[in-house]
Amino acid sequence: MRVLVTGGAGFIGANFVLRTLDARPDVTIRVLDKLTYAANPETLAPVADRVELIEGDIADTALVHRLVGEADLVVHFAAESHNDNSLADPSAFVHTNLVGTYTLLEAVRAHQVRYHHISTDEVYGDLDLDDPARFTEHTAYNPSSPYSSTKAGSDLLVRAWVRSFGVAATISNCSNNYGPYQHVEKFIPRQITNVLSGVRPKLYGDGRNVRDWIHVDDHNDAVWTIIDQGRIGETYLIGADGEVDNRTVVETILELLGQPADAFDFVTDRPGHDRRYAIDSTRLRTELGWQPNYNDFRAGLAATIDWYRDNTDWWQPAKDTVEQKYAATERVTG
Ligand code: NAD
Ligand code: DAU
Repeated sequence: MRVLVTGGAGFIGANFVLRTLDARPDVTIRVLDKLTYAANPETLAPVADRVELIEGDIADTALVHRLVGEADLVVHFAAESHNDNSLADPSAFVHTNLVGTYTLLEAVRAHQVRYHHISTDEVYGDLDLDDPARFTEHTAYNPSSPYSSTKAGSDLLVRAWVRSFGVAATISNCSNNYGPYQHVEKFIPRQITNVLSGVRPKLYGDGRNVRDWIHVDDHNDAVWTIIDQGRIGETYLIGADGEVDNRTVVETILELLGQPADAFDFVTDRPGHDRRYAIDSTRLRTELGWQPNYNDFRAGLAATIDWYRDNTDWWQPAKDTVEQKYAATERVTG
């Protein structure tokens, strides 16, 4: 099977490529990636002889039509993915997440290629901390940020291309991923690498916001389960029952790294900061038989800390730029 992976030099896409090469000898992989600030081609360097990495934009119609025409399956990870960046300048989010997805959909439509669309639980907006509800495939879309609204728009394009044009697509909406090769702008790697650099972790607002953490390998195993067994046109929510508030995550990182649990700063909150995400993945579990392997968040976090400690060469080059960007708007509040 010839698989075109968009965004395969980013966090989740690169983990998908590495895991797929290990588990599926029948698959050949091409990666299409614009190599933005979020990409790290070093992640794919050890498999350079087995993966063709094409530097290019998913909104480049001619390139996309050629590559899609030579594939049996497109797995679409490429995106502008960081909420804070989308608040500073939404333009790249509209281009990549909306125009880029549209370009891919037109290509899979023309060449009749199977397509899997990677999306996020943020399309559903947020939940109150004391709300017993969790997101399901039937929850109404209610995105909050420029990032999540462009992802919601891209999901709706996929649904329309399935219904109007018979495109053979599936969609998955996953909760917050953690694991190796995640960019240091994101919450968990930022705090781990802060502590490793002698800097205090930074908690937005009151630190009580809740995210539903899942290990990136569990996400990617679910993606293959959906590609193999999912019903065309359907949406599947991916989550591992991993709700934890941000303060607890920071305290656990500090404890695992031998620091006092209160050695962090509260900083200015993110505008429009979603309070809580929570996924009900019953459909994926009961219909397709998927289940997560990482059921102990503390153990998964400890392994992730070990990875960042052992791979400073991978993250160090991006660290200063990211921290300078945060410092321009962030103010310590407590
Ligand atoms: P990331 O930012 O780490 O990687 C994105 C990749 O896409 C980068 O390699 C970047 O160079 C590439 N890219 C950006 N614009 C491009 C363009 N125009 N053309 C080609 N390539 C382009 O993102 P990630 O965290 O790995 O997320 C991957 C996907 O998973 C995204 O669609 C995101 O919305 C979704 N998702 C992420 C999470 C999470 O917790 N990180 C959770 C659920 C869903
Ligand atoms: O829910 C899935 C989404 O998870 C994905 O669609 C996004 O691509 C991904 O970036 C992630 O979005 P979040 O906004 O939840 O992730 P982030 O890592 O930016 O922040 C996680 C939480 O931590 C959030 O409540 C904001 C908070 N935070 C973040 C940073 C960077 C802090 O308290 N301090 C920080 O320094």
